[in-house]
Amino acid sequence: MISVVILGAGNVATHLFKAFNKAENISVIQWFNRHLDPIIQYNKTVDVTDDLNTLKDADIYIIAVSDDAVGKLSEQLPFENRLVVHTSGSVNVYDLDKKHKRGVLYPLQTFSKTTEMDFAYVPICIETLDKKSYPILKKLAVSIGSPTKRVNSDQRSVLHLAAVFVNNFTNQLYRIGHEITESEGAEFDLLKPLILETAKKIQDLSPYMAQTGPAKRNDKKTINRHLKLLTNEHHKETYKLLTKSIQITHGRKKL
Ligand SMILES: NC(=O)c1ccc[n+]([C@@H]2O[C@H](COP(=O)([O-])OP(=O)(O)OC[C@H]3O[C@@H](n4cnc5c(N)ncnc54)[C@H](OP(=O)(O)O)[C@@H]3O)[C@@H](O)[C@H]2O)c1
Repeated sequence: MISVVILGAGNVATHLFKAFNKAENISVIQWFNRHLDPIIQYNKTVDVTDDLNTLKDADIYIIAVSDDAVGKLSEQLPFENRLVVHTSGSVNVYDLDKKHKRGVLYPLQTFSKTTEMDFAYVPICIETLDKKSYPILKKLAVSIGSPTKRVNSDQRSVLHLAAVFVNNFTNQLYRIGHEITESEGAEFDLLKPLILETAKKIQDLSPYMAQTGPAKRNDKKTINRHLKLLTNEHHKETYKLLTKSIQITHGRKKL
């Protein structure tokens, strides 16, 4: 049985708590958050606390708080030489206080509290500073059904950067599409099969091969018609920037 203490009560912490609770060989023995409100509802299943001085002995302490708070919280932990990991894509493993055995358990997925998550679709990137800590983190990830990969802090930052493009930026483009359809009385729902197909297609084709549309074809008249239709200056700038990016990639324009 692997004993775990979770620190933080946001999107990631909540999904990890639920997944660990379902796993047979993991026991979440305590859940800490600086405010009790988000975790008090779980107090029948787990010991909840907002006091770091009451933390119990555990095999692994998982810090799943905002990136900027990870280092400080690891300093505040009132013990040393125990395995402490964070879940961030961009925080260096060395940002954890050196009094601990240090590691990272980065779930490469997008988590929101309100959406269900199947950890079979959550690759977990693992890093440890000592060899002995690696197997227990791997066992933890495998126990919730996740594929695992050993990834160092430099590789993780690159993955996180790429994730911002493929997830956050793509989602912002959905948002712009939503604003455009809403303001013109068209149905955003009609675009949903296209959104799914775009993501499905790159499972088999490279993103380069999968590209279509006016920018790739260099259909200048269509591009100008779109620019005329756009009334929002931010949307216009985004359209121009991405059109240029596609044209450069596909040899329609030089850098
Ligand atoms: N969300 C994702 O899709 C995702 C994916 C992979 C990795 N991650 C990483 O996982 C970590 C948590 O992300 P999240 O999305 O779960 O965050 P979140 O939902 O915004 O929750 C943030 C948590 O951090 C706590 N917190 C903030 N500032 C703090 C401080 N100064 N001291 C102590 N606790 C503090 C908050 O406590 P209160 O409740 O008291 O405000 C809250 O429990 C981050 O490192 C993030 O990079 C996130």
